[in-house]
Amino acid sequence: MISKDLLSIVRPRPSDTGDLVYVGGIERDGMILDGEVRSPATGETYEIRDGYLDLLKASTGADSLANLTNFLPGAGRGYEPLWRVRSLSLLTGEPFPNERELEIIKRLVRPISSGRYLDLGCSAGLYTRSLGVNLDSGLAVGIDISPSMLREAGRRARRSGAKPSFVRANAKRLPFFGGSFRGAVCGGTLNEFGDPARVLRETHRVIEPGGRLAIMGILRADTPRGRQLQRLLSTGGIQFFHPDELQSLLDHAGFEPDPLQMYGPVFFAGATRRG
Ligand SMILES: C[S@@+](CC[C@H](N)C(=O)[O-])C[C@H]1O[C@@H](n2cnc3c(N)ncnc32)[C@H](O)[C@@H]1O
Repeated sequence: MISKDLLSIVRPRPSDTGDLVYVGGIERDGMILDGEVRSPATGETYEIRDGYLDLLKASTGADSLANLTNFLPGAGRGYEPLWRVRSLSLLTGEPFPNERELEIIKRLVRPISSGRYLDLGCSAGLYTRSLGVNLDSGLAVGIDISPSMLREAGRRARRSGAKPSFVRANAKRLPFFGGSFRGAVCGGTLNEFGDPARVLRETHRVIEPGGRLAIMGILRADTPRGRQLQRLLSTGGIQFFHPDELQSLLDHAGFEPDPLQMYGPVFFAGATRRG
């Protein structure tokens, strides 16, 4: 499901200049459940189906083994109950329920109830739902390349009562007009993008000046065993960051980074988009 308000900020191709037009479908309370939208500039149509707007169509958007694992049948269904509910406790070795993580992200992104917020690589929509429940006239938008994850994100959002919108899109080419969002969040996905600098530059483009970015991710290991495991994972396309490298990536993309928060190998980075 997507909010009709989303249509004014989506730009599937750089040549698109105006709002997407809702061609028709099934709607309820300002949300499109199923249907089709058209770009007035290119005439191209895009489907809203299975709970998300698909801008990638036949393209997978995946360019690594790590990306492809998120396309496996059942990947979406299992992601939160099997992994995400305990992921930070396992990684940090201390009690780290999702509520604690979501509170840190919220403090870093500082949402306002009328703002629009983007969740980059949302998977089953943990951060998107959490942002969505705090908004009033605002909008929470989750993007991902994996249909399996987005289907599950839609299902979970419907059950939660939050009304986020989900879009199948590649974070390396964000399909939104510049300055569309008040802020953005990113849970664990910076490690998976392959080209994090490019994603951060795109994120800078779509956030308004003074807007906030909050990222959770995994740092480069500092033990020989940890480094060995990370070397193995990096062959599948996962990247791990040194704290200085992270701050430099943010700075080069046009963000003013806050001091990094670190819990063992897990980091939380907050940053403000420079004007
Ligand atoms: C580690 S999971 C994200 C977890 C999620 N943010 C959370 O907090 O539960 C990574 C997700 O990013 C998606 N992804 C990877 N590369 C992407 C890209 N270039 N654009 C959009 N999504 C991407 C994957 O499909 C996967 O669902």
